[in-house]
Amino acid sequence: MQNARYNRVAGTLHWILAVLVLAQLYIGWTFADLPRGTPAKGDWFMWHKTVGILILLLTVGRIGWRVANPPPPFPATMPGWERAAARVSHLLFYAILLILPLSGWVLISSGKTDVTTTTLVGGMSWPLIPGVPEAAHEPAEVVHGVLILAMVVLFVIHAAAALRNQYFGDRTLSGRMPPFRPRSD
Ligand code: HEM
Repeated sequence: MQNARYNRVAGTLHWILAVLVLAQLYIGWTFADLPRGTPAKGDWFMWHKTVGILILLLTVGRIGWRVANPPPPFPATMPGWERAAARVSHLLFYAILLILPLSGWVLISSGKTDVTTTTLVGGMSWPLIPGVPEAAHEPAEVVHGVLILAMVVLFVIHAAAALRNQYFGDRTLSGRMPPFRPRSD
């Protein structure tokens, strides 16, 4: 099954989300370092909320697409432990891609009784989650921080495994995700 590949929609969503996650980490660390109350911090934070919500929506779409269009089977030659590792890491990615932006959404919604929406880039309005108590702020902050770290670790392992298979391995795995190609010889 060397030619089994993810379809075009799955491939496009994969790469858009990869770029958005990298951009979001950069945006998050940039605004976190800026002094409180400055316009620059506000601008970067608006981008952070916007890109984060976009990641959340695209992830929901991606999971829906995957459920309706199951991924290609693993190559027959793939050892059992590698299949298990791939399954677990992909599941973790989906969980983090959902829970990380959700924790940010909880963060900005906590203790808000006077406003019901937040402003995104271009003046777009996005609802806050109603009824989130102030007490949820700190736990959500911890979840956000831990999952950022988990995302970075998983991202590095995932990219290293794919690049190793593409450039030093048999390309049976990385070749599944466009635009990587399976070995043709
Ligand atoms: C995949 C999506 C996301 C990623 C990768 C991400 C990443 C980050 C990063 C790197 C920081 C800086 C942490 C630090 O060094 O202090 C941060 C902070 C923050 N993010 Fe996100 N974020 C995401 C989604 C969101 C969303 C959707 C929101 C809100 C709608 C949000 C709200 C916040 C807030 C309020 C902080 C400041 C937390 C604090 O006060 O410690 N994030 N995020």
